[in-house]
Amino acid sequence: MAVRRLALELLLRVDEQGAYANLVVPARLTGTDMSGPDRALVTSLVYGTTRMRRALDFLVDRFLHDPEVEPPVRAALRMGAFQLQELKTPPHAAVSTTVGAVPKRARGLVNAVLRKVAGAEASWPDEVTRLSVPDWLHDQLTADLGAERATAVFETMNRPPTVTERPDGYIQDRGSQLVVDAVDAQPGQRVLDMCAAPGGKSTGLAAIGARVVASDLSLTRSRLVAVNARAVLDADTPGRVHVVAGDGLRLPLRPGTFDRVLVDAPCSGLGSLRRRPDARWRIDEAAIERLVPLQAALLESAMAQVAPGGMLVYSVCTLTNAELAAPVAQLLHTHPGIETLGAPSDEWETAPGGYRLLPDRTDTDGMGIARFRLPAG
Ligand SMILES: C[S@@+](CC[C@H](N)C(=O)[O-])C[C@H]1O[C@@H](n2cnc3c(N)ncnc32)[C@H](O)[C@@H]1O
Repeated sequence: MAVRRLALELLLRVDEQGAYANLVVPARLTGTDMSGPDRALVTSLVYGTTRMRRALDFLVDRFLHDPEVEPPVRAALRMGAFQLQELKTPPHAAVSTTVGAVPKRARGLVNAVLRKVAGAEASWPDEVTRLSVPDWLHDQLTADLGAERATAVFETMNRPPTVTERPDGYIQDRGSQLVVDAVDAQPGQRVLDMCAAPGGKSTGLAAIGARVVASDLSLTRSRLVAVNARAVLDADTPGRVHVVAGDGLRLPLRPGTFDRVLVDAPCSGLGSLRRRPDARWRIDEAAIERLVPLQAALLESAMAQVAPGGMLVYSVCTLTNAELAAPVAQLLHTHPGIETLGAPSDEWETAPGGYRLLPDRTDTDGMGIARFRLPAG
């Protein structure tokens, strides 16, 4: 019962107070003496119920006379339905444990509705409800990836991510590791990571032996780069991470001096929906339009830092065509002389403006990338 009660408490913080599930869940679990399996169950209940909110509301609302129920009841109904529909928990266990975790006055209602959910087939009114995404997001990825691929990608991103650990112990999605590989940094090279925080890619590049200048606009987040670098790089690591907080559009660095420049640009983050369960309900359509000019400006600014013969790498952890193709088109328009490089490895599929990792095929976060080489000397 403690597991369900804690999961409900966390769901209310996400639903009602706008907390980020991927931050609040690990933080709250740190303070408990729960066993490993119980922690995993709390995480699964909160993440899964949050991701599948739209689908679960459909399952539940069929049996509510008035869908305006108070937030703790709504959270319990969704969580119960999640266990029935997604975790395939036996009905008796799913219903009784959920009912036991809600206030006494709501138990009758939660019990009655969940029993009905358990006894009825889910016949979805449409794909967007089944996949549990907002209409605009379904339309956007359907337009960008095609209907079949968008569905497969959403289905993958509705499941928990595969956790991957680097040899140095840093937990990092394999998609991000593939971006580090794509930078193709060599030991001893000078690398600028222009949007570096929290430092996943900077530390990966330093582990290869590169001398990394890691800069980020946010001072607080820049500190995280330093903390992460201290945690994973030891004295024997040949590479280094030098942290600088600053706006990538106005970097106080000598131009034309880096062998590799990575712009891991701020983006809509639609490729990491597995990892950030509430993101789909948070991101708005207008964000994409707002981000593209910033992404293009950062890429242009990064270009000035690349040494002759060096490489410029642009990456985003999203799947929209606009956030890859538009900044790249602008760069190529301004610098027609630069060479566009091919796919970094087989995992990357051709996309407008560059290459993409699609989660359904790679079991990674979704990413976009484009790479360029400057003429030598
Ligand atoms: C996708 S995240 C970077 C993730 C990081 N590369 C990693 O692998 O851990 C994008 C970053 O861009 C930073 N950012 C946003 N605007 C920026 C700007 N104008 N200049 C530099 N960094 C910026 C944000 O603070 C955020 O940390």
